[in-house]
Amino acid sequence: MLSPRTLELFAQADSGTLSDLTALRDEISRFLMRYRFGVAEVETKLDILREEFSLVDGYNPIERISCRVKSIESVLEKADRKGIDLDLDAIREGLSDIAGVRVVCSFVSDVYRIVQLLTSQDDITVLQVKDYIAQPKPNGYRSLHVILEVPVFLSGGAEPVRVEVQFRTIAMDFWASLEHKTYYKYETQVPQHLIDGLTDAAETAAHLDATMEQLHLKVRSYRPPAPTIAI
Ligand code: GTP
Ligand code: MG
Repeated sequence: MLSPRTLELFAQADSGTLSDLTALRDEISRFLMRYRFGVAEVETKLDILREEFSLVDGYNPIERISCRVKSIESVLEKADRKGIDLDLDAIREGLSDIAGVRVVCSFVSDVYRIVQLLTSQDDITVLQVKDYIAQPKPNGYRSLHVILEVPVFLSGGAEPVRVEVQFRTIAMDFWASLEHKTYYKYETQVPQHLIDGLTDAAETAAHLDATMEQLHLKVRSYRPPAPTIAI
């Protein structure tokens, strides 16, 4: 836990002594290190599923996986915004997205399949599921978010680490990334016609997902005709 004194030092770094600052730096490094390990555990689990599917099925349901751990600045800023005490235990309890993994799948059915395979693993504890695919946000945002805990084995024993895993299709990811850039650029003052355009585009993306899934099923079930043997 980060004591109020060390946090005070953090806020006014240049008034602290060198050893205070070193202790603070070490505390923060240890805090973030667990999240890096948590992300690595989840990524390995997903890599194994991906590789197994490719080998056994000849089909890869995961297009890409990206991982990030928030910077300490971003952790403290979010904790402060949410009214969480600036104390590492309180932050660990109050923030669920310090460690994040994003899994982009080819099709909606792959999203549900991978979510099921990951969350049913014995060492994973699911804390929360938000299915914005079944129930999109009013702006059209679609993805499936799972907050889970994965054990990380450190020298002192196993520690559960919370990781937010977002699952989506390529089309959902394309939409979310443009929507995010739009809000970033307009700093939340997005003109109504762009908001409407994005909501329409989300519907188009969902329609594309449904069409691609149907085509994919047809391609998978296609059996080439047996070669005719001329006698
Ligand atoms: P925060 O974690 O504070 O964002 O709130 P929350 O936990 O209630 O949010 P939620 O689970 O709905 O979303 C968490 C994350 O999903 C966000 O940090 C984004 O990465 C992503 N997300 C959610 N809604 C949107 C959206 O409308 N557009 C985009 N581009 N991303 C979104
Ligand atoms: Mg969140």
